[in-house]
Amino acid sequence: MKKPTYYITTPIYYSSGQLHLGHCYTTVICDALARYKRMDGYDVFYLTGTDEHGMKVQEIAQKLGTTPQKYVDGLFEDIVKLWKALGISYDKIIRTTDDYHEKTVQKIYQILLDKGALYKSRYKGWYCTPCESFWTESQLVDGCCPDCGRPVHEEEEESYFFRLSDYADKLLQLYKDNPDFISPKSRMNEMVNNFIKPGLKDLCVSRTNVKWGIPLSFDPKHVAYVWIDALSNYITALGYLQDDNANFAKYWPADLHMVGKEITRFHTIIWPALLMALDLHMPKQVYGHGWLNFYGDKMSKSKGNVAYPLPLIDRYGADAVRYYLLREIPFGSDGSYTDDSFLGRINTDLCNTLGNLVSRTTAMITQYFGGKVPEPQQYTDLDNQLIDTINGAKQAISQHIDMLNVPEALADIWKILNRANKYIDETCPWTLAKDQAQKGRLQTVLYCLEESIRVSAILLAPFLPHTAQKIYDKLTLGKLPKNFKDAVFGRGKAGKTVVKGDNLFDRLDINKELKIMQDMRPKATEKTEDKAQQSADKATDNGEITIEDFAKVQLVTAKVLSCEKVEKSDKLLVLQLQVGDERRQVVSGIAQHYSPQYLVGKTVVLVKNLKPVKLRGVESQGMILCAADDKDVIFVTPEKEMDGGKTVR
Ligand code: MSP
Repeated sequence: MKKPTYYITTPIYYSSGQLHLGHCYTTVICDALARYKRMDGYDVFYLTGTDEHGMKVQEIAQKLGTTPQKYVDGLFEDIVKLWKALGISYDKIIRTTDDYHEKTVQKIYQILLDKGALYKSRYKGWYCTPCESFWTESQLVDGCCPDCGRPVHEEEEESYFFRLSDYADKLLQLYKDNPDFISPKSRMNEMVNNFIKPGLKDLCVSRTNVKWGIPLSFDPKHVAYVWIDALSNYITALGYLQDDNANFAKYWPADLHMVGKEITRFHTIIWPALLMALDLHMPKQVYGHGWLNFYGDKMSKSKGNVAYPLPLIDRYGADAVRYYLLREIPFGSDGSYTDDSFLGRINTDLCNTLGNLVSRTTAMITQYFGGKVPEPQQYTDLDNQLIDTINGAKQAISQHIDMLNVPEALADIWKILNRANKYIDETCPWTLAKDQAQKGRLQTVLYCLEESIRVSAILLAPFLPHTAQKIYDKLTLGKLPKNFKDAVFGRGKAGKTVVKGDNLFDRLDINKELKIMQDMRPKATEKTEDKAQQSADKATDNGEITIEDFAKVQLVTAKVLSCEKVEKSDKLLVLQLQVGDERRQVVSGIAQHYSPQYLVGKTVVLVKNLKPVKLRGVESQGMILCAADDKDVIFVTPEKEMDGGKTVR
């Protein structure tokens, strides 16, 4: 019989910096769902990818003195490594710089033009480079981007527009006919009330001042707007408008686009309107999940408010990270990462509940039955309670997965584990073992326990694939099954060998780990500023300084004569500066933002009378001024060309 299909996608990840733990949330959730659906008998296609065009990539590459292509190639490798480390089982990973994607996006624009869905006009508006989004004056919040709060700049240019305003009624009808199209429900209300009801404006879908993008075949000085380029990935990856479109025929429309809440708008307004213009079917559902915050604050690199996945995976294992992401954050809502909650989940759920059950069970079978699963005898009421819990889990998980509620699906498995641990305390196998007359009872008890861990391993497979396989190895059952058929009490065979082996999860010394975690976190760039602020605050009540205080700081222009990397440091550059008649050497932590050759010849602003310090053994005679935000550090330069040595006031 032909399997039903299930097409699930993550958004494609911006190739403009290192991914943090929050990014992994989307891929891990989708991975668990994809693995579950495969085991549930679906023919699954799980797509993820990278979003590689746009102004931001162009700017970063320029600053680093490399080409955009080389820059995104490097990041792509890192992303692939990260997904591998986390055990992400995608069927395809698309890059928007892939040739087939670029060609198909050009064809999509041509179709839109031919159908009259595009027209040429002039665009004037506010652009947020980090979000690659245009905003109207009224949408700005305090003059900044309403999505990320960062500054925007005004842009005016000739552009192609997509007639998005034609689609308001059709979109409302789509939502009405498909009440689950936007989930959770609260996000649907947000889209309707905040975006559709106030009136949809036509969307500017081409740029002339961005070079790093897909040129439009009918007007090559224009490149495709990144969001149209990016959204199209969901169909170009399947072969839409390509010679081999078998996957498109088979998997489209998507069953689920899983996206973060901040990009729900793009997926539930622009994307369906675009599909309507192309006469394609609508995806079945867009789920806008909540954010993983960091101690209650938005994850931010510059504030040091960020957790990175690889150090956590290296130290605690991929499944500890997967479990945390899948279990800790109430689905649909925001959650908050803390070191304590991360370590707590490992010690309590993974080590105490799961690990102990497995090690106690395998140890007792080894000790009392020479490592062979014993034949069960008569089941008592107590055994039947455990058996009911084991057999009830599959159905409960399936209901939770239908609602995409992964944390509750995991809780269903933990019901088995908790019940089985309690069962050990209730049956006291070590007492039964002392009495020869109780041998039959002991056989039954240990068989019930072995079945608890065998069934749990199968049910755990989509969520914690590595741990599930380890349990299966301890039960010498070979490779995990490809479906849930055997996740039923009684399918395990007596006589099978079990081995105790290593612990699944070692118990952690929380205080020791908290210190280690602090050390492995990248230091906040803002912390030094905070300290400076604190001492300033001590000097005066409200941190204000007088003009005399300020006059003590000698700020001057300086020309960069030469620049090179500081040995054994990936952050520091050493710059030789011409300051009037004087030469100065300054060490600056901007190596990740600028290539040495880019800086040569530039004019910078130097704090001239700072006490010299040694950084990595290299003397720094002053400091150059930089502006910093979450992702970027930009050196300050006079608005017009100026010689070195001029006073800055
Ligand atoms: N490139 C766009 C998506 C285009 S899809 C046609 C983009 N990329 S992103 O790299 O910024 O985000 C990728 C995914 O990571 C999004 O679903 C986003 O919501 C998610 N997350 C980024 N930070 C997050 C948290 N702190 N917490 C949870 N998810 C977060 O948007």
